[in-house]
Amino acid sequence: MTDQYRVEPALMSLVEFARQAALNSYSPYSHFKVGAALKLTNGEIVTGTNVENVSFGLTLCAERSALVRAVAQYGPEIRIEAVAVANLNDGASPPCGACRQVLAEFILPDAPVIFPAADGLRTMPFREVLPLAFDMKLK
Ligand code: THU
Repeated sequence: MTDQYRVEPALMSLVEFARQAALNSYSPYSHFKVGAALKLTNGEIVTGTNVENVSFGLTLCAERSALVRAVAQYGPEIRIEAVAVANLNDGASPPCGACRQVLAEFILPDAPVIFPAADGLRTMPFREVLPLAFDMKLK
């Protein structure tokens, strides 16, 4: 069995990219500074951070801001082979449900997702992070 609390050394730099991105967080309402880093199959790394709004529901999470940035920069054919999430608050921050569904559109099922859990940094394959993604199958 793979150890969910061990981060592949090759992916530690992705965690550092996520931490760096969190430094740019715009979070005057929650003060929760989140960063995300996506490793793409084209070799590129794209980061994002949470951008809050006074109309709270308009807030963008770090994961989705990284994703839209990746598509904007490299186009709709991108595929994500690893994700790292970090926050500067020493709290747990697994990707929220909405971000999981949005990532599902572009991520490889076995892509490792690294995030701070309550008991430490954890790595899970995406298919376990979101086992039942919505997928529209028209008859
Ligand atoms: N947040 C993220 O950036 N990613 C998540 O997956 C969950 C929550 C942000 C949104 C908001 O700015 C702050 O964390 C508190 O909810």
